[in-house]
Amino acid sequence: MERVQVTPRSFPTNLIDKDWVNRKHLYKINSDHFLSLVHDMKLRDDDVWVVTLPKCGTTWMQELSWLLLNNFDFAGALAKDQELRSPYLEFGFALLEDVQQSFGPIEELKSPRLIKSHLPLALLPSKLWEGKHKVIYVFRNPLDHWVSRYYHGVTFGAYYGKTLHQYFDEVIASDDFATEIIEHAHEFYLLRNEPWVFYTSFERMKKDLRGVINEVSRFLNKPVDEQQMEKLLKHLSFEEMKKNPTTNHLWELAQIKHINARKEQHPFVRRGNVNGYKDELTPEQIERANISIQRILAKKSVTMDELLLQNDP
Ligand code: A3P
Repeated sequence: MERVQVTPRSFPTNLIDKDWVNRKHLYKINSDHFLSLVHDMKLRDDDVWVVTLPKCGTTWMQELSWLLLNNFDFAGALAKDQELRSPYLEFGFALLEDVQQSFGPIEELKSPRLIKSHLPLALLPSKLWEGKHKVIYVFRNPLDHWVSRYYHGVTFGAYYGKTLHQYFDEVIASDDFATEIIEHAHEFYLLRNEPWVFYTSFERMKKDLRGVINEVSRFLNKPVDEQQMEKLLKHLSFEEMKKNPTTNHLWELAQIKHINARKEQHPFVRRGNVNGYKDELTPEQIERANISIQRILAKKSVTMDELLLQNDP
């Protein structure tokens, strides 16, 4: 997807004091109309948003949140593709070139709606900045995010024919990608103590899924008893989600019109590892990526451990 610099209609200056005008926002070409509709999007009081960058554990968190919001309806979750239960706002516009396909499914959804978006804070609906809706944010180590993004891009067509190493060398050729993921996460990290924001990481979910379930349960005010907890832990395990057709984005993949889509398919729930990049990338690539990441982190005065919540109990 060709990306160009876009200018948000307005900025969440009430939430974060930063140099918003010079914050570089990259998005799909010719997206002004769509982004303007998103900016003005009407929300319902009980909407819940899962905001991430792709491949950071979005699907995993959506499945957990959907079950909490829908009274542990495991049968319902297994019967319907996740994309239809918890729509991805940008999907229609960004992947099908159809703005109505972006908003229609969300408007038709019964409450409480669980809406997924990969947009950064300043491009999300401005209503969200009022802090009256719940937003769940999941961050992941950028190197695992990029590797995962590569396999996703091959399956969906955009990176078909490219090797992981070619793709990765393009990612680390400039600081743009590192800036994108770190700024995206850092804005929500700064809001992590707001009562309407729940900020976590893929790494935390891997380390202590039970703990994260308890945290999301408190955040959404949906208590979980021990029996439900056991069922959730099983349903959300890597093994179960890997074999569950409704959590592997098969519906989404079937819609994709890219000429190279589906030519080489990698499972959506693929490896699910922390630091899996270490056996997929060369030491030189890892070193170059880390130098770029450290440069951006230093500018933000934050560490990777902080963004990943590695020091939290
Ligand atoms: P990998 O490609 O590294 O395996 P998203 O939903 O944001 O696109 O994230 C997809 C990533 O989350 C994939 O990472 C996928 O395997 C991983 N994932 C999804 N469900 C998981 C689970 N239950 N346990 C561990 N990882 C999971």
